[in-house]
Amino acid sequence: MQINKVCCFGAGYVGGPTMAVMASKCPKQTFVVYDINEQQIEKWNNKQYPVYEKNLDEYINQTLNTNLIFTCDIDIALKDCDIAFLAVNTPSKKYGLGAESSLDISYIDSCLQQIKKYPLTKRLILVEKSTVPIKTCDYINAVLRDKNICVLSNPEFLAEGTAIQDLLNPDRVIIGGAIESAQQLASLYEQWVPKEKIIFTNIYSAELSKIVANSFLAQRVSSINSISIICDKIGADVNEISQCVGSDSRIGNKFLKTSVGFGGSCLKKDLLCLIYLCESLQLDEVAQYWRQVYLLNEFQKQRFYNLIITSMFNTLRNKIIVILGVAFKANTNDTRESASLMIIQKLQEEQAILRIYDPQGKIDKLEQCQSLDGIFKGASAIVILTEWEEFTKIDYAQAYEEMAKPSYCFDGRNLLQGEVMKSLGFLYYGLGRI
Ligand code: UDX
Ligand code: UDX
Ligand code: ADP
Repeated sequence: MQINKVCCFGAGYVGGPTMAVMASKCPKQTFVVYDINEQQIEKWNNKQYPVYEKNLDEYINQTLNTNLIFTCDIDIALKDCDIAFLAVNTPSKKYGLGAESSLDISYIDSCLQQIKKYPLTKRLILVEKSTVPIKTCDYINAVLRDKNICVLSNPEFLAEGTAIQDLLNPDRVIIGGAIESAQQLASLYEQWVPKEKIIFTNIYSAELSKIVANSFLAQRVSSINSISIICDKIGADVNEISQCVGSDSRIGNKFLKTSVGFGGSCLKKDLLCLIYLCESLQLDEVAQYWRQVYLLNEFQKQRFYNLIITSMFNTLRNKIIVILGVAFKANTNDTRESASLMIIQKLQEEQAILRIYDPQGKIDKLEQCQSLDGIFKGASAIVILTEWEEFTKIDYAQAYEEMAKPSYCFDGRNLLQGEVMKSLGFLYYGLGRI
């Protein structure tokens, strides 16, 4: 079967950029991105993207209304369609059984209901793109058992801030499911991804690989954070440990930066989904192993705000504290599950006066400074929560002059040179280093 037309349910963070890159790399196919939210579709059509990603504009400009269409019309999406991606949101379930840990697939479910109603004229390959709980493929097959469909799992691994780069040059493309359909989907990727990077698996392996990958990333951050705690006690330097350990090629040097705790919409959600899976399979020891990765992350956040409060002699009331960064990592405006949320809340409970600045990130209902101008005047402490490059270029000697004394700096990303900060007069605290 020749693939001519592809559609995608969900014009969000995953669907929009993924289809834009695919459309540019597969000029012979037509890509239709469908969403129930009219405003979302309008934004894409007017190039006011609902997500911020470097170079996204270039790919939309190349393809929009040529072989890439954004629409709210299900007929335009599904008519004569060969492949349909499911890229709708699957947040942590907020209610009932598995609340706060299982994934909520009700948006996937609503897509299935729409497909069920639609009179398909040919066989449709249905592709799970969003992270889904294991065996969602069985559920899809059950709901659409009267339809001429084949389900595949093709999880997305793009990270925020590097989405376009990750799509253009993925480490791997995983396609799980019946091989004939899997090869048809692969024929799209083969137009720009080297063949050896495309891995064919069974469908459950593909589904599981996504939550395992994110859980492993979370585990690495918790592992190095646990070592930062030991370093604090014994005077070793965690950055040096990362370098020493990471240069073992069996371990690798990525994801070994200690931090105030991992955030973002995926790592915690997928880790909790894995824990829930273990629990539902009654694998208590395995569940506990992974739960500890989650608990360590919570502990790292607590440890950091306790460090701030206790170092300042438990008297933050009416003291000015400058918060640098609210985004869950640099180069994104996203603050979901950011460590900054908990830390800001705890400092507010101490009745400190917060001056908060982030070049892109914005927390709902929270007053933030628009720039760094005058932000340090009279402040008692600087708290760094996101590793924006801009924060390395601040004139800290000048900041120190303007601040109240003693002047503290709590660096939750080990972004600055501790020795330099101390020589300026700061009481400087990093993570896992003296
Ligand atoms: C280890 C370290 O690798 C080495 O750097 C250090 O100097 C000494 O300790 P070794 O004990 O010889 O070396 O064995 P290693 O190859 O690390 O394997 C340890 C165990 O892990 C073995 O039982 C091996 O079968 C097991 N293993 C290793 C797995 O089960 N899975 C793997 O993927 C790798
Ligand atoms: C993640 C996965 O990387 C991506 O493959 C998947 O598709 C979606 O989830 P993302 O949530 O965008 O991507 O962010 P990521 O770069 O993984 O960072 C997650 C968190 O870990 C951030 O808060 C980051 O600051 C933190 N982190 C990362 C560390 O604290 N130390 C590190 O060494 C790396
Ligand atoms: P992700 O990060 O997984 O891409 P987003 O929340 O950014 O998640 O985007 C998901 C998109 O899916 C939203 O724009 C939402 O309106 C859309 N959506 C939800 N349910 C459906 C549905 N049944 N059909 C089409 N689109 C849907």
